Amino acid sequence: MKHVYQRLHNKGLVLKNTKMIKGAHAGYIYRVTAESEYGRQYSFVYKEFAKGRENEIEIMEMASHYISPFSKMNEIWNDSPPAILMEDLGRPVKTTFSNATLPEKELTIKRIVERLAELHSLETSHIDKRFPIHRITAESLEWCSDQLSKLHFHVKWADTKWIKDIKYAYERLGLIDYIAQCPLVFTHGDPHLENIFYHDKQMWFIDWEWAAMSSPLRDFTIMLQDLYDPYLIDYADTYYTEQLRKNNLTLDMESYQQDFYHFYIDHTTMMIAWEVEKYFQGLHSEEEIKKILLFKVSEISRALNNLMKRNL
Ligand SMILES: Nc1ncnc2c1ncn2[C@@H]1O[C@H](COP(=O)(O)OP(=O)(O)O)[C@@H](O)[C@H]1O
Ligand SMILES: [Mg+2]
Repeated sequence: MKHVYQRLHNKGLVLKNTKMIKGAHAGYIYRVTAESEYGRQYSFVYKEFAKGRENEIEIMEMASHYISPFSKMNEIWNDSPPAILMEDLGRPVKTTFSNATLPEKELTIKRIVERLAELHSLETSHIDKRFPIHRITAESLEWCSDQLSKLHFHVKWADTKWIKDIKYAYERLGLIDYIAQCPLVFTHGDPHLENIFYHDKQMWFIDWEWAAMSSPLRDFTIMLQDLYDPYLIDYADTYYTEQLRKNNLTLDMESYQQDFYHFYIDHTTMMIAWEVEKYFQGLHSEEEIKKILLFKVSEISRALNNLMKRNL
């Protein structure tokens, strides 16, 4: 943290105030206010990475040309300690989403989906050869099984059948090492609603640590994880396909559906694990985690059934 004063000074700014943004982060995140010599005030977010967690910096350096139109990045330092400086985008979409009205939610979804479709339609033939390619692995399933087993010791309602059902879905679909059927595009990798901000009449993405080439359905099905309403999931899906077409990304609809269900199940499994973690960390009440899990487990069954029907 001591470096931020000098780093801002080198940009001709005087540090005025810092406040830590608390949470389980990949490093230390501060809200920082600064002033230029002409008295102009700035509000930034400064993210300093913990050792071994500086992947986001490498991604930024490899793909800044792709990322900058979607993030309000101001500066990247790759010397020690690695850090980034972004414009302060206010509060993530997630903070207001669950209490918003249905028309407000629809509007938010439209805006996010428009930006995602824009990102996914970028021409990437010249992308850095070292830029990662994402594949589904066994990681989500293993983490989810562990978390649900732990949860089972804490609360009676956590059903051991859930683990069996999820494992069955992975086996039935050959999810581990599934090969995406859609063409690979530039994906953000973690666009849940805490990583998305509405600012200056536009949606912005932060937290590019997991950016990689993948199916566009990778991002889309992560975004869906914060929508606890089948109507909104369907609404987002219709609008997303429309926007891909508008951006001239024409996908074969069967490939789209296959990727949709495969990635949706893998991400729902990962989110079950993560939400249980949040419950253990005291960030969800028992009532909240129960509601979340019942919905997500039923979504996995719904997706599996829909896919099996398609593949008959
Ligand atoms: N540019 C920003 N503007 C406003 N808040 C931010 C900004 N960057 C990060 N934050 C806050 O810090 C949180 C964590 O930042 P993020 O980069 O997503 O780190 P992590 O990798 O730990 O998820 C965000 O969810 C948000 O609340
Ligand atoms: Mg984040």
